[in-house]
Amino acid sequence: LNEPIVFYRTESGEPVALWGLCPHRLAPLDLGQLKGDSLRCGYHGFTFSPEGACIDIPVAKTRPELCRRLKKYPLVEMGPWIWIWMGDSEAPDYSKLPNIDDIGLGNNATGWRVDVTERIFLKARAQLLIDNLFDLSHIAFIHANSFPPGTNDIALVKPFMKKMENVFRVGRWVRGVPFVPGAMHSLMLPDATGKADLLLHTDFYNVGFVNGSGPWMWRSNDDGSQGEELAKLNFVHCITPETEHTTHYFGVLTRNIRLNDDAFSKELMQQSDFIRGEDRAMLEEIESRGAVYGDPTKEVSVFSDAGAMRIRQMIQAMFKTEARGEKKEPREATISVVEISEDTSSLNR
Ligand code: FES
Ligand SMILES: [Fe+2]
Repeated sequence: LNEPIVFYRTESGEPVALWGLCPHRLAPLDLGQLKGDSLRCGYHGFTFSPEGACIDIPVAKTRPELCRRLKKYPLVEMGPWIWIWMGDSEAPDYSKLPNIDDIGLGNNATGWRVDVTERIFLKARAQLLIDNLFDLSHIAFIHANSFPPGTNDIALVKPFMKKMENVFRVGRWVRGVPFVPGAMHSLMLPDATGKADLLLHTDFYNVGFVNGSGPWMWRSNDDGSQGEELAKLNFVHCITPETEHTTHYFGVLTRNIRLNDDAFSKELMQQSDFIRGEDRAMLEEIESRGAVYGDPTKEVSVFSDAGAMRIRQMIQAMFKTEARGEKKEPREATISVVEISEDTSSLNR
């Protein structure tokens, strides 16, 4: 969101997020060093507490408390994620954090294997990534040879949309799919026989958090009815917009089968990183050329875009609500000149 932030952990493991530029000469503070629980700027040694207060100015024996404080951002750690509140001033509303226990990621989740995949620094706007995740027909093209056999067919099935309590879901059902060697669901359960009902869905929790199942499966009974749940695999996408044109793209895989199978984890993570790399290549080309020379208001959309279009509308509505409700505070980047000398009487804030 166009704010430089430095993250670190205190000695007891508490995560800390502070405004990431030193008030002295704007050195990025992530280039500094930790001194116990405090952070020392790598340029001239101004040192800040986890609360953002300057506690030492080694080059001038002066009163560090007169140096401007760094903004401190509220954080919540949940499973492998740290959620940050970057709102202007109001206290964060923790009740709006999504409930993600049921995909293995909340602090109360049990019975799941969680694997963190490679972090991608995407040179494209977050919206392009969200569009991508909600139009899975691209699987049959960008990833034509990258997913296990059969996945392309699923991707071209007509999707449904469903507003649920926690999420907005765009999904595809395929029923009665035989377990055959090499298919995605067979790779998940290599000993399974018979048929499965598969749900391939993408769930929109919020702008920063999207979960794709890959797939979620149930036994498919001989009479065509849906039997017991067999397995769920999730490709979780955490999308942190850095600037208007760049995004931090975090990925996590969770599954409720073969929890101790490290080789399977490795295989899935390699596959996920490869596939996300294919998306990344296309999205960066769209950002650097499509978005520069193209006119998004003249995009041609077809049926398979319906889910992504709904998500775009939801995001636009959120922007409008936020713009109405929020008074903008001046950004921290507007730095005033602070003269610090031996003579503390000349200090100003
Ligand atoms: S820029 Fe950080 S101490 Fe000078
Ligand atoms: Fe993709």
